[in-house]
Amino acid sequence: MIDKALYALPLALALVSTASSAKAPEDILDELAAKSKSAYLTQSPQNRMMMPDNPAYIVAEEGEALFKQKRGPKNASLEQCDFGKGPGVLKGAYVELPRYFPDTGRVMDLESRLVHCMRTLQGFTNDDPQIKQRHGNTDITKLMTFIAIQSNGMPWNPPTNHPLEKAYRDAGEVLFYRRSGTLDFNCATCHKQTGGRIRASYLPNVTIPEEWTKAISWPAYRTSQETVRSSQHRVLECLWQMRYPNIKSDSDVMLALISFWTDAARGQPAILPDLKR
Ligand code: HEC
Repeated sequence: MIDKALYALPLALALVSTASSAKAPEDILDELAAKSKSAYLTQSPQNRMMMPDNPAYIVAEEGEALFKQKRGPKNASLEQCDFGKGPGVLKGAYVELPRYFPDTGRVMDLESRLVHCMRTLQGFTNDDPQIKQRHGNTDITKLMTFIAIQSNGMPWNPPTNHPLEKAYRDAGEVLFYRRSGTLDFNCATCHKQTGGRIRASYLPNVTIPEEWTKAISWPAYRTSQETVRSSQHRVLECLWQMRYPNIKSDSDVMLALISFWTDAARGQPAILPDLKR
């Protein structure tokens, strides 16, 4: 009896260690914070405490149900959607976006690719609320949260082999540093210092990948808005702060900025879902 138990022990230990090698988002954040001592990463112990119970997990569950449900005029699920790693492969797909898709001839991010699949596989049109309503408690947000968290802890690794992938990334860099608008701001005005703040908030520095990975880890639950927000929504809000005109969802400028910002976090682990101010 005792012998049997002893044989079982190494197996049990092995099982435990495999299970714990999948790190929770809060553990990834803790490790980055310990390494970099960044004020941005450590600014909210309260948010850190809430991460194990992140409301984004419920949103992701709703997204999973929507993903598998047969919907739209074509009565199909999204299970055959190809996010770049083959039809239906979700694990690690998000950290390798934006990427060039030969079937559309375009560089697409998670949101634009999801919309593409909802149109082609399910038959929704741009006028349907399922596609039109992007931000807030929407299908798009729920689906993106479910898909994105399959890449938790994986390093950002957007491909740059195709000339268009490189062109979007480079255009995004130019846009990030180009001053314009009534305030003559660029993104770098607020995102190229360490320890820079607006009111109580520390802002992330684009040149420090350990900080920048948290900055771009969307979808994230925003406590101040009590909802999950996306990358495209963040771009919209920062451009609004710069007093630029509203940017269109899935536009080339949107894709370029997101291509550049993902490249700026290259190699650092994604924190998904994150919880932000
Ligand atoms: C006027 C200052 C300002 C400018 C200019 C600005 N941002 Fe921001 N950015 C902010 C603030 C404030 C936040 C939210 C921080 C918070 O709420 O704690 C933020 C958040 C972000 C985040 C997410 C980090 C987080 O913790 O929420 C990203 C990514 C980002 N901005 C990218 C950009 C990009 C890309 C541009 C240019 C298109 C830009 N920002 C321009 C002020 C700015």
